[in-house]
Amino acid sequence: MNTTRTITLKNRPTGKPELTDFEFTTSEIPELKEGELLVSARYVSVDPYLRGRMRDVPSYVPPFELNKPIESGVVAEVLESKNSHFSKGDYVSGLLQWKETQTAKADGLIKVDSDKAPLSAYLGVLGMTGLTAYLGLTEIGKPKKGETLLVSGAAGAVGSVVGQVGKILGLRVVGIAGTDEKVEMLKSEFGFDEAINYKTTENMVEAIANSCPDGVDVYFDNVGGAISEAVLFNINKFSRTVNCGAISEYNNIELPKSISVQPFLIQKSSSMKGFVISDFADKHPEGLRQLTEWFNQGKLKYTETIKEGFENIPQAFLDLFDGKNKGKMIVKL
Ligand SMILES: NC(=O)c1ccc[n+]([C@@H]2O[C@H](COP(=O)([O-])OP(=O)(O)OC[C@H]3O[C@@H](n4cnc5c(N)ncnc54)[C@H](OP(=O)(O)O)[C@@H]3O)[C@@H](O)[C@H]2O)c1
Repeated sequence: MNTTRTITLKNRPTGKPELTDFEFTTSEIPELKEGELLVSARYVSVDPYLRGRMRDVPSYVPPFELNKPIESGVVAEVLESKNSHFSKGDYVSGLLQWKETQTAKADGLIKVDSDKAPLSAYLGVLGMTGLTAYLGLTEIGKPKKGETLLVSGAAGAVGSVVGQVGKILGLRVVGIAGTDEKVEMLKSEFGFDEAINYKTTENMVEAIANSCPDGVDVYFDNVGGAISEAVLFNINKFSRTVNCGAISEYNNIELPKSISVQPFLIQKSSSMKGFVISDFADKHPEGLRQLTEWFNQGKLKYTETIKEGFENIPQAFLDLFDGKNKGKMIVKL
């Protein structure tokens, strides 16, 4: 029987995850069954939401089990197929385990074409990341031409797409990110009208007011916490907040002490809505069609931070919490 390197969850992290929370093991590759594929991982996506799956609490996806492989979005090459829809040499994308080689059921995997886009893009702008940005903004943010869109986590995978979609839809777009280099990138490469470095800004309420002189109509929130509290002071009447992510809170051990949002929402007849991409599965095909069209027209750009080597997957994941990525964080095998 053949074996493969595998990464499992060794401990449920307390606070910020550490390398010692992961374990490299060797596992057996079972015999390929009818309908299945034998695949070899080429690009592995690491995502902030995986942190939530490391907690033993119910959520919109079940927690990872201790000493079992972690899984995330992966682009893999088909080495062997016992499924008539896939052939050796095809590339597939879907949720797979952190293993170099594995057998997988074909349902849930989609074929991706390396001639149409670089393979890694199917984990970013042409995958779940792009869909999260597009559907979160359009379905919950309900943007209207001429409005002001503010995006936190703007230089990351989702945020950089949100801002570009906002520009395509005719909005004024302002981003919030954690370095001057990211701020510059948002304006020069992704067409944001303004951007704020939250790490060097003392008064975020004032900085947002200066960058959004007409107030904030749509807030696409990837980070939560203090940044999002500052946004509340700048929201417009009938504004909408898309609660997509709250990375600033993911490693909290205690419940955060937040200001009360209700008075702000009431005063401005403003709404705030949680968003999970899997709730919009029926809209994924149309979303992917639109993203692909914009991508082919050169309207949607992307950037990625690529780490090399299976052994670097856990570190790439940890780096998300230190803002070491620009655009999508991906590990190439
Ligand atoms: N709801 C859904 O269906 C869904 C789907 C995908 C992603 N998400 C969420 O969307 C958000 C973005 O995901 P992504 O994949 O695009 O990740 P990402 O933005 O590419 O990477 C994470 C970024 O978050 C920023 N960050 C880290 N700690 C922070 C803190 N304490 N305060 C403020 N910013 C912090 C860092 O950038 P800086 O240098 O700017 O700090 C880092 O680069 C995450 O919260 C994720 O959980 C939700």
